[in-house]
Amino acid sequence: MNEIRTVGIAGCGTMGAGIAIVAARAGFRTRIHDTRAEAIEKARTQTEAFLRKSVERGKLAPGKLPEVMAAWTGTTKLEDLADCDIVIEAVFEDLAVKHELFAQLDAVCPAHTIFASNTSTISITEIAGGSGRADRFVGMHFCLPAQLMKLVEMSPGINTTEATFETAWRFCEALGQKPVRTQDSPGFILNYFLIPFNNDAIRLVEQGVAEPADIDLAIKTALGYPMGPLELLDLVGMDTQRLLCEAMHGLTHEPRAACPPLVKRMIAAGHLGKKTGRGFHAYGDTKMFGA
Ligand SMILES: NC(=O)c1ccc[n+]([C@@H]2O[C@H](COP(=O)([O-])OP(=O)(O)OC[C@H]3O[C@@H](n4cnc5c(N)ncnc54)[C@H](O)[C@@H]3O)[C@@H](O)[C@H]2O)c1
Repeated sequence: MNEIRTVGIAGCGTMGAGIAIVAARAGFRTRIHDTRAEAIEKARTQTEAFLRKSVERGKLAPGKLPEVMAAWTGTTKLEDLADCDIVIEAVFEDLAVKHELFAQLDAVCPAHTIFASNTSTISITEIAGGSGRADRFVGMHFCLPAQLMKLVEMSPGINTTEATFETAWRFCEALGQKPVRTQDSPGFILNYFLIPFNNDAIRLVEQGVAEPADIDLAIKTALGYPMGPLELLDLVGMDTQRLLCEAMHGLTHEPRAACPPLVKRMIAAGHLGKKTGRGFHAYGDTKMFGA
């Protein structure tokens, strides 16, 4: 078995920052890379704040906080991921961007390094095709917010070896996450349901059927969900939702997966969701993490 000790994460946005917390908290040496130094600084500050809150709430032993931060290293240099046993990619939902990144990573990382993608909608086999190591490539789809949600949808591409998949699966369990196996299929399990469902909620707002707060309240009350679809979309971000819709609709041609015009108008207005302080709901701060 290929033992995983050092974890690389490429992309320090909403998802990458959360996945880095999961890895460092589970005791793995964790290196998180982004091309933007400010993304790394923001994640470092928010990670410390999240861990402090976890200690206050009794979810993390006080002595663990400095240990987790010591395991967490941010970098703008891709070469710093050279000693990683697995690299989880969480950059923009764009095949060309992912291909370019994996081509660079393939030149930097040793042969044993497993590559994983956190993509929500793009085919694992297609991303793997541009990675130079399609046999050592796997889909690992974490849920938002990764530091709180246990589910990871794990999918092999057509060329993924069973040994690679098993190593990644055991790593996922060692992270303290709950892996579920799915085929390489648009939206896997969760987003196959969620993207059209969330778009339906947006269309109710577009049509003036109900206010966002009332739609969220109805769904939470009736279905027992911890968060309404519009609250969830504010966390996901309208920019990411647009990319998810375009990828999912392009693959499936499912009309309900098409990006609602309101999302495009909200992006133009800068109402991306919680990260800009305003989306379907208004926020007092732009913090992304709760404890
Ligand atoms: N937001 C969600 O709800 C969610 C949930 C599960 C999976 N995903 C998937 O995770 C991935 C990331 O989504 P996100 O919401 O975190 O996006 P995001 O926009 O918040 O973050 C993306 C980050 O990647 C960085 N980046 C872009 N190109 C890069 C490169 N070449 N090298 C290094 N860093 C680069 C950006 O600077 C940015 O910080 C996407 O594939 C998305 O589909 C998103």
